[in-house]
Amino acid sequence: MSTQTSGLAIETAGLVKTFGETRAVDGVDLAVPAGTVYGVLGPNGAGKTTTVKMLATLLRPDGGEAHVFGHDIVREADEVRGRVSLTGQYASVDEDLTGTENLVLLGRLLGHGKSAARVRAARLLEAFGLTEAAGKQVKHYSGGMRRRIDIAASILNTPDLLFLDEPTTGLDPRSRNQVWDIVRAVVAQGTTVLLTTQYLDEADQLASRIAVIDHGRVIAEGTKGELKASVGAGSVHLRLRDPDQRPLAADLLRRVLDAQVQDESDPVALTARLGAAASRDTAAEQAARALGELARAGVTVDNFSLGQPSLDEVFLALTGHDTHASGSGRSHDPKDEVAA
Ligand SMILES: Nc1ncnc2c1ncn2[C@@H]1O[C@H](COP(=O)(O)OP(=O)(O)OP(=O)(O)O)[C@@H](O)[C@H]1O
Ligand SMILES: [Mg+2]
Repeated sequence: MSTQTSGLAIETAGLVKTFGETRAVDGVDLAVPAGTVYGVLGPNGAGKTTTVKMLATLLRPDGGEAHVFGHDIVREADEVRGRVSLTGQYASVDEDLTGTENLVLLGRLLGHGKSAARVRAARLLEAFGLTEAAGKQVKHYSGGMRRRIDIAASILNTPDLLFLDEPTTGLDPRSRNQVWDIVRAVVAQGTTVLLTTQYLDEADQLASRIAVIDHGRVIAEGTKGELKASVGAGSVHLRLRDPDQRPLAADLLRRVLDAQVQDESDPVALTARLGAAASRDTAAEQAARALGELARAGVTVDNFSLGQPSLDEVFLALTGHDTHASGSGRSHDPKDEVAA
């Protein structure tokens, strides 16, 4: 299998990792196109880090197989290691060194000469907005600065494939945006990024394809559009002039769109969720038809918007629970206790 023919940065088939009775990764199939951001989305304990560690050759799989740029992750682990870089959930730079010292040291370890390492470090620190903090010990960095220096460290040598394991967990919105910009810049230079996240909007912002995993299994995979389409065509949000007309409008939307209609707390607002089955017409066509019917029925619409379903809705539709409801790890299965 060669990258040239497959165009895949990562290809896995039936990948498994067990820890005692826990099947942390339970038969994962992935096909990650080269040159893109691929999102692996799942709640706590879904198996994201375990999958990444296997692909980065830090953990040996117990079953299945995986290739990175055509190289087997077990038999050709050295080749794989030469092409990938990992920014872990738990960062790896030295707390007692400054930003510059960390990057220069790592640069030297990667074989750069002293002055080349210094130049590269300074350039990365500047690109990541860390020039002012360059001389400070990393232990005094904020969470966002810490995450940025960690990503900087992992792209000292531009890797062909970069694993980012929950790069923005715990960051404030501004720091998240900075990390997102960095990810976009890294991909623009030709690096493939596999990004794990618990944040649906993060996958939505960055990834071109997404695998949703839960309990060690891929429960859905596709482009953002495909995933969203699988739960419906979108939502129509309306604000009416007259709250008394809301029951009439709701009734009409139900009939015309075959949609689930929900009253909002604002007495003039309502939302219609367009069903997947009803989406033979585009969402826009359905919405236009609904607006026409409302006008004919004498309902005055002051404001109207059409939104795509959020990935939150996707997760809820796929798993029956939201991303935070499955808690840490799998539900307890009594038959696990029979063994041994
Ligand atoms: N070294 C280990 N020993 C025992 N169990 C482990 C080990 N590593 C992971 N697990 C278990 O495997 C499952 C998957 O863990 P993993 O860390 O891959 O999940 P995750 O999707 O990265 O979660 P999070 O979002 O919390 O980082 C969990 O049930 C976890 O408790
Ligand atoms: Mg993890």
